[in-house]
Amino acid sequence: MIKGRINQFFKYVSSYISDDDKLYIEKSLNTNEKELFYKLSIHEQKHSINVARDVEKICNQKDIIKAALLHDIGKIYVKLNLIDKSILVILDFITKGKLKRLSKLKKVNCYYNHGDIGYYILKDIENEEVLFLVKNHHNNSINNNLKLNILKKYDDKN
Ligand SMILES: [Fe+2]
Repeated sequence: MIKGRINQFFKYVSSYISDDDKLYIEKSLNTNEKELFYKLSIHEQKHSINVARDVEKICNQKDIIKAALLHDIGKIYVKLNLIDKSILVILDFITKGKLKRLSKLKKVNCYYNHGDIGYYILKDIENEEVLFLVKNHHNNSINNNLKLNILKKYDDKN
């Protein structure tokens, strides 16, 4: 857990989008999707690209790759920086999830509900499968969907 967080920290401060990453985005997303994607912070763009590349190795299928690239799109309206995130992770742990009740606070809401927020952002431009994956990528009560399981696994690993 701690080691994972430390790795995440270094990934966060050193992330940048390479030419290769840009080509990957070009071939995987259409114009509308790209416009949304580039609203993510650089760190979130990189995270999403890494998730998509890992997912692709297991399941090379258009919808799941799109979902991997767009899974955190619900974060575009509220920027969570590294400190916000660390505080939220710690508070969530200490309060055993009770922090959720403060979801009127924008940042808390975004942390817990960015799957749903992403769903609403994408609902007019994506198909059911992509929407399902984005909406539920942090939903622990659904564990019998193969593609969702793959997305969750590589989201955690990155
Ligand atoms: Fe997420």
